[in-house]
Amino acid sequence: MGLGAGGAAGVGGPDGRFDLDDRDLVWADLAPHLYAQAAARQWDPQTAVPWDDPFVLPADVEAAVVQVMTYLVENEQAALLVPARFVGRIHPHFREVVQLLAVQMADEARHMEVFSRRALLRGAELGTSSAGGRQSLYTLVAESDFALASFLLSVLGEGCFVDLLSFLHQFAPDPVTRRICWLAGQDERRHVVFGMAHLEHQAQVDPALRDRLRAAIHRRHDALLDTAGLNEDVFDALVVLAAGGWHPDQVSAGFDRVQALRHAMDQGRQRRLVRLGFRPDEAVALSALHTRNFM
Ligand SMILES: [Fe+2]
Ligand SMILES: [Fe+2]
Repeated sequence: MGLGAGGAAGVGGPDGRFDLDDRDLVWADLAPHLYAQAAARQWDPQTAVPWDDPFVLPADVEAAVVQVMTYLVENEQAALLVPARFVGRIHPHFREVVQLLAVQMADEARHMEVFSRRALLRGAELGTSSAGGRQSLYTLVAESDFALASFLLSVLGEGCFVDLLSFLHQFAPDPVTRRICWLAGQDERRHVVFGMAHLEHQAQVDPALRDRLRAAIHRRHDALLDTAGLNEDVFDALVVLAAGGWHPDQVSAGFDRVQALRHAMDQGRQRRLVRLGFRPDEAVALSALHTRNFM
């Protein structure tokens, strides 16, 4: 469909062809409300974060923060690319959906900025990136079906990130890390709400959707079968942050807290899968196939 086929779009605007031109493929009744909320809650990275608050961390704790920030930046890049791939394919008649995705991209741009700035606040070196993590993100960005990409990104990936950011907010060793994880977590909640609202709408009008969602989880799991999943350096860094240091008694408490985080992520995925109409036992099985990279 070109512009002109849908209501007010007939008055002008760019010529173009938009293959996502069916209301049921893109819409959620919550979109106008979520857009207004997103626009009202844009924060300024310069003023919303206490960059100059004094703090000194032990070297290994600082290194753990840098490693986690490096991982977050890499994941934020993918989270920006996914909506970017679709925003030009959605018919502008669905104005609030286009606007909401545009603001979501601006959210991810800010997340990239604040996590990068925190990583480089005390040193010049970033942490490590892993082949398994990159492969996981590649399979996410490569998904060209809007419903499946929303499902993998927002329902599963960003859903896990809400838990991860709240974990990091809880165990952050410094005020900057604590604040940026809280700010990004608020935005990510909104991204999850839209993904869920849109897919709940689509599941109601298209009973075959669940088969496609199930197949997408299996396809991605198979594609990542030979990869390690979460970067081990990231796992260790999460343990250190949750532990507060490297002493053996601390590390064991930190390990338990990271296991509790994984459990919370799993429970959250299952809850959202059930809301999309999967049986509870199938939600357990599908959640277990989600990428170990979290996103
Ligand atoms: Fe983000
Ligand atoms: Fe996001």
